Amino acid sequence: MSSTIYLKTSEEIELIRKACALTSLTLGEIAKWVKPGVTTQKIDTIAREFILDNGGRPACLGYGGFPASVCMEVNEIVVHGFPSNYALREGDIIGTDLVVELNGMNGDMCYTFPVGEISDELYNLCRTTKESLFVGIEACKEGNRIGDISNAVQRYCQSRGYTVVQEMCGHGIGRDMHEAPEIPNYGRRSTGPMIRNGMTLCIEPMINLGSRHIVIERDGWTCRTRDRKASAHYEHTVAVVDGKAEILTSFEPVYQVLQDRFI
Ligand code: MF3
Ligand code: CO
Repeated sequence: MSSTIYLKTSEEIELIRKACALTSLTLGEIAKWVKPGVTTQKIDTIAREFILDNGGRPACLGYGGFPASVCMEVNEIVVHGFPSNYALREGDIIGTDLVVELNGMNGDMCYTFPVGEISDELYNLCRTTKESLFVGIEACKEGNRIGDISNAVQRYCQSRGYTVVQEMCGHGIGRDMHEAPEIPNYGRRSTGPMIRNGMTLCIEPMINLGSRHIVIERDGWTCRTRDRKASAHYEHTVAVVDGKAEILTSFEPVYQVLQDRFI
């Protein structure tokens, strides 16, 4: 990844906003299919067709050889899981992480869903991880540095007894799905690049129930917890405008589908 941080013009931010709108709608389509008995392969197909029907491109598909449009993160999978013939089961959690390119710009987001009724332990993991995303977004403002986002996420999660994955991080986004800077979910305050207007960033806490350690499976992609305890992951794309983070992706389409079952 180039270390250059591209500051976007307001026109470019408008384009990224449109890509993010389609990403968010796609996540809403995915939400309709997250239920016991549905395979992750089916969910991937639904998402891919929806993106293509709306003039977008599923940017994960073929990226570095990734074989699918959506990363499937069932239970102990942290990130970058492949869709398969695994049928979701009551009590699972599943993160679906997707990137949509539209008119040359990318939007990236992730939501971890409950499958039917889930345990309090998993609900609380997801709830805290999602809250930490918004805590990180609050810290994403002019005058702060990237390490302030990292530190805010880390403190929020660790103080509640969870652990933070260190090997995977958030990132800049734009014409490329991964641009500088890297945004770790742990770190020290007042370190790293200054946050500036025009930055477009993906903030994405990946938080574990057990130990922080991960393993990459032999497929070279699937990242799971070493102890096989659950991991949760939420992600938004934001733009720094007028000194603060404006969230460009939206969970609203998901909430409309989940209604009172949302996390
Ligand atoms: N949001 C994921 C990430 O930033 C998207 C990965 S797409 C893949 O890593 F193709 F790399 F899997
Ligand atoms: Co991302």
